Amino acid sequence: MNGAKWAVVTGASSGIGEHLARGLAARGHDLWLVARGTEALERLAKELQERHRVTVRVRTCDLADPAARGALTEELAGEPVSVLCANAGFPTCGPFSTNDPAKETAEVQVNVVALHALTQALLPGMLARGHGRILVTGSTAGCQPVPTAATYAATKAFANSFAESLHVELRGTGVTCTLLAPGPVRTNFYLEGGIQDLQKHAFLAWLTPRRVAEAGLRGMAEGRRVVVPGPVAKAQYLAGRHTPRALLFPVLGAAVLPLFRRARGGTGGTIPNRQSVNSRKV
Ligand SMILES: NC(=O)c1ccc[n+]([C@@H]2O[C@H](COP(=O)([O-])OP(=O)(O)OC[C@H]3O[C@@H](n4cnc5c(N)ncnc54)[C@H](OP(=O)(O)O)[C@@H]3O)[C@@H](O)[C@H]2O)c1
Repeated sequence: MNGAKWAVVTGASSGIGEHLARGLAARGHDLWLVARGTEALERLAKELQERHRVTVRVRTCDLADPAARGALTEELAGEPVSVLCANAGFPTCGPFSTNDPAKETAEVQVNVVALHALTQALLPGMLARGHGRILVTGSTAGCQPVPTAATYAATKAFANSFAESLHVELRGTGVTCTLLAPGPVRTNFYLEGGIQDLQKHAFLAWLTPRRVAEAGLRGMAEGRRVVVPGPVAKAQYLAGRHTPRALLFPVLGAAVLPLFRRARGGTGGTIPNRQSVNSRKV
């Protein structure tokens, strides 16, 4: 296989990343599959090699671990990778002050630092070859602050902003960067965040990971700036970006956060109103 066909997919062991890997293999790419779940990665690798006759390398890595992440970025920096799907990520939900501090830190490491480090490692080679495609999985959650998912929303604000900035910076280089910003997608994500009951709410217009991944891959191939799959996610994306905060927080407090709270079994997740904050003794 031509070396320029190598694609790296992080978070390839399930959900959107698994379907990014499936879509890339179907398009003839050789793959590096990255995540912690070795068994799931090896199963997928075997299937894709047999079905599409591509070469697949499994690279188990905890992207939250600086040493493991450093070894991975060093290794990949020397490889002729033409596609990077920086997709691995997970949420924490609940009040920041009561969430597990180690998990909060790992979330920043995976959702922000790993995306940044992998892009930093692979971009110089792509620029030197005059060709490359980067797809960053951000989220509609990154379009506004989300109390009770404060760290998650902030990490996705980073991903969204970083991807769009690179898109513009890279014009004319032969390398493109596309932001994939999904709304709700049925994956293990909600189990990871302890809010799996959220998936009972049909009005959130759940998409399948396959549909989201395919939309991302099409947008990436076209060199688009942003891909927001589905009309409901598009509305969330626009509303999150353009609604004044003074309107947004009451709406989140009244409509969205109670859903999160119920999905977490009633724990945490209120926005104190201004009066209750002001009346607190300091
Ligand atoms: N589902 C949604 O509604 C939704 C909406 C918007 C954006 N997103 C974003 O989409 C991306 C993919 O999530 P998903 O919905 O497909 O959920 P998912 O099925 O839980 O997939 C998450 C992937 O990230 C990997 N990952 C998590 N922690 C990791 C770590 N420490 N080191 C290496 N890999 C790690 C997981 O692999 P291992 O557990 O095997 O390590 C898994 O492959 C995430 O960035 C998420 O923020 C999801």
